[in-house]
Amino acid sequence: MSSVLVLTASLVVASAVLLLLCTLHDYRKRKGLPYPPGPTPLPVIGNLLDIPTVESWVTYTEWEKKYGEIMSMQVLGNFIVVLQSYKAMKDLLERRGQIYSDRPVSPFFDMMELHWAIPIARYAEQWRSGRRALDRSLRQSAAVLYRPIQKAKAHAFLKNLLARPEDFREHLEHFQGAMLMAITYGYDVEERHDVHLGKARELSDLAASTVLPGALLVNDLPFLRHLPEWLPGMDFKSLARHGRVLAEEVVNGPFNFVKEAMEKGTARPSLARESLRESQDGSQMAERDIATALGSLYAGGSDTTVSALSSFFLMLVLYPSVQKKAQAELDAVTGGARLPDFDDRANLPYVDALCKELLRWRMVTPLGLPHATTEDDVYNGLFIPKGAIVLANSWAILHDSSLYPEPETFKPERFITADGRVKDDHLLNVAFGFGKRLCPGRHIVDSTLFIVVSFILATFSVSKAKDDYGYEIPVEDEYTGMQLSQPVPFKCSIVPRTEATKGLITDVIATE
Ligand code: HEM
Repeated sequence: MSSVLVLTASLVVASAVLLLLCTLHDYRKRKGLPYPPGPTPLPVIGNLLDIPTVESWVTYTEWEKKYGEIMSMQVLGNFIVVLQSYKAMKDLLERRGQIYSDRPVSPFFDMMELHWAIPIARYAEQWRSGRRALDRSLRQSAAVLYRPIQKAKAHAFLKNLLARPEDFREHLEHFQGAMLMAITYGYDVEERHDVHLGKARELSDLAASTVLPGALLVNDLPFLRHLPEWLPGMDFKSLARHGRVLAEEVVNGPFNFVKEAMEKGTARPSLARESLRESQDGSQMAERDIATALGSLYAGGSDTTVSALSSFFLMLVLYPSVQKKAQAELDAVTGGARLPDFDDRANLPYVDALCKELLRWRMVTPLGLPHATTEDDVYNGLFIPKGAIVLANSWAILHDSSLYPEPETFKPERFITADGRVKDDHLLNVAFGFGKRLCPGRHIVDSTLFIVVSFILATFSVSKAKDDYGYEIPVEDEYTGMQLSQPVPFKCSIVPRTEATKGLITDVIATE
């Protein structure tokens, strides 16, 4: 036998023994219990080829029939669990929140030293204290204080829409950024090229573009971060350094603005001012923790809300009858003589229900944000290892036709009771995630959607745009995105409903 043949045979035997040992070790670790079912993994790459890349939540929902309420896959060393039933989501992400509230490790975010950023922070002390601060600042009763700011920014948005209706998506982004900066720091952004808003946007875009599977090799092969920078393909190292500097600017820039304004006695009400005052009054919160917790809000709150409001424009184009019905309800309350206000909400059940349906119909985060486990666990006889990435398929709940008949159709009526009141549907909360990681911005979202939606309905008429020959331009009900889903850019016509409603936009409104 040639030596090459001997070497090959030895390698094959060694690999087989290694595989057997790993399998035995794995079997012992899970005490013979099975993993949640799923597609059969291939050697080395596991289920890499099975993972759906387009509207994965729809595929997962179909797989539920085959694999049941909890399934699993293995991809390049990651163990992924998908929860498909409300019960499994509540049981694990809430009732066992102690071990299901971590986030997956991201080598690139580690290199950017983003461990302080609440949405991606590991389940550790820094996240806990930052999260406590956000929960205190953004609780329902505190969110009410920021309504005048929301109204003022929503009104400025209407003016921008009147001036350049074709750029509605850009105006939405500006509105949401301006509102978050004003609520968080009492800071009024410039209409164009604002330095703080620009940096927050850049950081958010950098994080979103690098988190996607396959976007950066270092996230799949973490050892690459230890190789020297002069090697080809190591550009991510300089990108991480740039991201680190940018992140510090995002955290410190607007925060220092508030501190200086407080020293001068000119600071306006804001989350930062109130948190700093509390810390000066003896709260345990360190200044750096306040700054980083607040620095996380733009990342969590900008693209999410913009996606929901973009879906609102899409819905108006696709469902003219919903638009008419909502406008009739608003006109009956305001007489068309003023803009609606938060106090009108109780008399606007259809508009209120429309906002709920918006969160259900085209979900912003159909799979939420990934959780991760900090310990091995057993659920219904199935073994879930420590470090597993856990996705909750919330879309499957809110598009279950036995709970929401004709789930793909936009129907605000489904949230209205027989006697005309708005239903309190607890299932809708899944749009904001689960347990300890539940979205802290949900009360701000609630008031933002209501005020922007009712302002637009009161003043504008939205329909299909026409081409140069007067033919309507078709609009596709199509969405992009992996983690965060948003409508594919589309054109529409946005015109003031009447001269009188145009006047409501151009008039100065009282916001206090
Ligand atoms: C339509 C708008 C929004 C939707 C649908 C949404 C949804 C979500 C979801 C699904 C999560 C993950 C929850 C989990 O891991 O279980 C989340 C987390 C988060 N959201 Fe929102 N969100 C929205 C707007 C906002 C706003 C306006 C803010 C800030 C004012 C915000 C701040 C955050 C933060 C900081 C986290 C991370 C929480 C943590 O990891 O502890 N979100 N959001």
